[in-house]
Formats: sequence, structure tokens, C-alpha cells
Amino acid sequence: MQTQRTQVVIVGGGVAGLMLSQLLHVEGIDCIILERQTRAYTEARIRAGVLEYGTVDLLRRVGVNGRMDRQGLRHEGFLLMDDGEAFRIDLHSLAGQDVMVYGQTEITIDLMDACVERGVPIVFEAADVELHDIDGAPWVSYRHDGSDHRIDCDFIAGCDGFHGVSRRTMPDAAAHCIEKVYPFGWLGILADVPPMDHELIYSNHERGFALASQRSATRSRYYIQCESSEKIEDWSDDRIWDELATRLGDDGRITRGPSLEKSIAPLRSFVCEKMQHGRLFLAGDAAHIVPPTGAKGLNLAASDVAYLADGLIGYYKRGDEAGLEGYTARALSRIWKAERFSWSMTQLTHRFPGMSVFDRKMQKADLNYIRSSPAAQTAIAENYIGLPL
Ligand code: PHB
Repeated sequence: MQTQRTQVVIVGGGVAGLMLSQLLHVEGIDCIILERQTRAYTEARIRAGVLEYGTVDLLRRVGVNGRMDRQGLRHEGFLLMDDGEAFRIDLHSLAGQDVMVYGQTEITIDLMDACVERGVPIVFEAADVELHDIDGAPWVSYRHDGSDHRIDCDFIAGCDGFHGVSRRTMPDAAAHCIEKVYPFGWLGILADVPPMDHELIYSNHERGFALASQRSATRSRYYIQCESSEKIEDWSDDRIWDELATRLGDDGRITRGPSLEKSIAPLRSFVCEKMQHGRLFLAGDAAHIVPPTGAKGLNLAASDVAYLADGLIGYYKRGDEAGLEGYTARALSRIWKAERFSWSMTQLTHRFPGMSVFDRKMQKADLNYIRSSPAAQTAIAENYIGLPL
């Protein structure tokens, strides 16, 4: 058994864990990141693409913004479309901020590069990670390169996603979880073709929701609502492009191309309201999932770790535990607002199985109200650009 000691063990090398490591590192707090996958696997995962300005600020605070500033796309608005009729939510004039379109994949690469440059240790392919004595003097065990390892620490940050070991280790966590599963999923496709529009288009169509998104001027990301049980093998690229053309009312603006990646993901809202037990703290997808409609998942992971870093910095720099004690309440307040926004955007833009005429009339009335009311548009805009940290 090889043993080590550090101040904070971060379980999970996704955006939450990597960002936390940098927030701690710039304050001189030591940490070690344990990641189950290889670096190549972690870097290839296709995830979200829209950053709130608060997330952009956090990346600036840790000095991991060079490539984002050069390659990220500032978006001042987006389009909401219903039955083929589009209207624009002007984020910039309604809420005074933009969002940044820059892939989570790219942020992961940038943060990993920063870890390597700054000497923050990441153990890839850490297997059988287990958390011990989280009530007292915590330690983490894992297997790596055929041998057993133990790290003793002051705190454990569980940033290991929805299926990770951290939430499972927390006694009684299941009793604090609240979940809603939606009766559909999203099929996503990534392709090296120019986007159909310079802004994102969220479309409510009688055949179901569609979203036109992008990663750059030459790379597009599209989604369509489908049944969660559908198999990706049944969706040829041609079938996906045909469906997108129908649902987005294509007038020749969609450029087709071979898929670089395509996959189906279920939609759920999930919150574990117990985010701390003893010395273990949960952050990001380990504690909550939002449906992707509001583009909030990555941004919530960023705000969680900003709060957690505040708490840890208070503890190490001032001997003040108030930030850690208040972590759950502070994080949950923002999480539930993002859950609400993501749920309401999903309600507004998707066709639910068995939707009645009345349900659809309510959806239409909601959209017509938003179209006619600057106040309603402002409410959407201020949530989309991100509520204050
Ligand atoms: C994406 O580009 O992956 C994306 C954009 C906006 C969303 C969800 C996903 O609301």
C-alpha cells in the first residue's frame, strides 16, 4: 500500500473537479484529483457548450481563459421558435450580459493543461475508489497500475458525477434525493459543418423539440427530442438531418455532413439536498442533474465549486468554518432556481406524450405572452445569462 497526504482529495476529473483544483491551487491549497477514465476518454466526451458570464469570470479568475477568449463565440441572444415562427430573446439588451459558446470538451482540455503546467496531480485510471472515515479523519483508497494506494486528507470533494461513488458513500443521501424523469430524451449530433444561424435556435415543432447549436464557425451541434428508449443505431445521419430540417423549418440554411458523434441521453431533473456529510462535500452532477434545455448543467457545477472553494479558502486562510457550514444552503438556493428554469424551458419547448389540446393551448399562450412582454423576456434572459453567484 502506497500512502500520501494532501489537503483536499478531489474525486472526479471533469469540469467540476478540475475547476475546483485550480481555484484551490491559486490560493496555495494542495489537492490531488482522482479520475476513473483515461485522459483521452475524458477529453473526448461531448458535453455542453454554453457558458454563463459568471462561469467565464471563474475561468478568468484561475487564469484559464486564453484559448476561450480567442476561440469562444460571444452570443448576445438566441431564438425561440414555435410552429415555425421565431422570435429573439435579446440577452444583451434585456439582461446586460452575453453568454459564451465554448465546448465543455475544450474547457476540460484547457483545465487539464493548466493542472499539468502548474503541477496539480491528476491520477487517471484510478480504479475502485473508496472513501473512508468521512466523519472523522478522511482517507481515500484506490488501485492504480496494479497497486493499492491510500491518500489521507482533510476534506473530500465528490465531483464524480451522477453515477459516482461519492453520493453513494454518503449515509442516507437517497432519502434526500428528489427526481423527475421526463418522458423523452435528446438525440445529439456533432458535425463539421457551418451552423445554420449565428445564434442558437430552440424550436417547438409538432414532431417534437429541436435545437440548433454550435461549437465554432465550422462545427455544429444539433439535438432532437426522441423517445428515451430509442436506439441510436436506428438513426442514420440522413434520418437525423431530415428530421432537423423538418423541425427547424429549414430553408436551405442547414448544411449536412457526416456525424463526428451522435448519442441519445434521457432528460431528468434531480437534486440531492444533502450535499455534505462530515468532511465529504458533493459538487456538480454528483449532487444534481438538470434537463439540458436551459444550458445550466456545466454552469451549476462551476457555481458549486466556487462556493466550495470559498468555504475551503475561509477554513485554511482564516480558520473560519462558516463557508463550509453554509455550503449546502448556498448551493441549493442557486441549484433550485436553475432546476426551475431548466424545467420551465423544457415545458415551453417540448411536445409531451399525450399532451391535451388544453396543454398545448397553455404552451402557446405562454409563448405568446413571452413574445409580447419585455418583462417576461427579461425573466428568461436573466436566467439564461446566469443568476448571480
Ligand atoms: C449545446 O450546444 O450542447 C447546448 C446548447 C444549448 C443548450 C443545450 C446544449 O440549451
